[in-house]
Amino acid sequence: TTVYLNGTFLPQDEAMISPMDRGFLFGDGIYEVIPVHLRRMIGFKQHIIRLQTGLEAIGIAFDWSEEKWQSVLSKLLGLNKGDNLAIYIQISRGVSQKRQHGFPDNIQPTIFITCYPIKPPTNYLSSASKGLTLISQQDRRWRNCHIKTTSLLGNVLHYQNSQNQQVDECLLYNEQKQVTEASACNVFIVKNNHIYTPPLDSQLLPGITRAIIMDLITAKTTFGLTEKSISLDEARNADELWLTSSTRNIAPAVILDNAKIGDGKVGEVYKQINLLFNKHKF
Ligand code: PDD
Repeated sequence: TTVYLNGTFLPQDEAMISPMDRGFLFGDGIYEVIPVHLRRMIGFKQHIIRLQTGLEAIGIAFDWSEEKWQSVLSKLLGLNKGDNLAIYIQISRGVSQKRQHGFPDNIQPTIFITCYPIKPPTNYLSSASKGLTLISQQDRRWRNCHIKTTSLLGNVLHYQNSQNQQVDECLLYNEQKQVTEASACNVFIVKNNHIYTPPLDSQLLPGITRAIIMDLITAKTTFGLTEKSISLDEARNADELWLTSSTRNIAPAVILDNAKIGDGKVGEVYKQINLLFNKHKF
């Protein structure tokens, strides 16, 4: 893999960062993941806008133009093979001489970009394909989950907890027992052919996949779509439940806490929306 680090393209195993980088010491940085299918970035502009918003939210001064992003990312793609890739961008506050909590003066952000293979969007239409299994967990992350920070310990522990219990992902809920998201995905449910997803606030990431799917539902289908809080009970009683992200695409879940979601099979609404989504991606 060829990566980009602070202005230079080089082999990934030759890319070196100081242990005094605040990304390493504090998780003091912002990241972004952009899916690439058939060499085309999906949602490029939206990902760059979210990255910029995150940087501003935590006070990292970094403002490449859209053209600069286009040229660096296209060059990176040109130097790497693969039809289905995720571009990973990380910008940390930078390297300082001493470990201190406060922002150092005149610090230069560290920018690192790599890419790795991901699966193409699958269609879960064949009877052989199974949906995901989930467990619910109380959301133990910090209170700014709308910021895509590299400090992912909460997410990592939630995910590992579900792996340890031999399920695919977790469904996180807040103190009011409302669903927030999964460890690295947004959530949609379907009830009586109406589609719901939690509204954007500081409890969840404004997913680009979420936004793309909402636009597709509104523009190309007659399904009702409502952003509203979803209680854990409503999730349990849903006909369908989907997880969405740049790397998972739309993934149907069929089991929650050992109980079937709907009839426990990949749902019919999912199949229609997923077809539209795959068409959008390719
Ligand atoms: N994660 N919620 C969380 C907590 C996430 O980490 C992600 C994405 C999403 C979905 O966002 P999007 O549709 O823009 O990918 C929701 C990425 C893929 C990751 O951490 O690897």
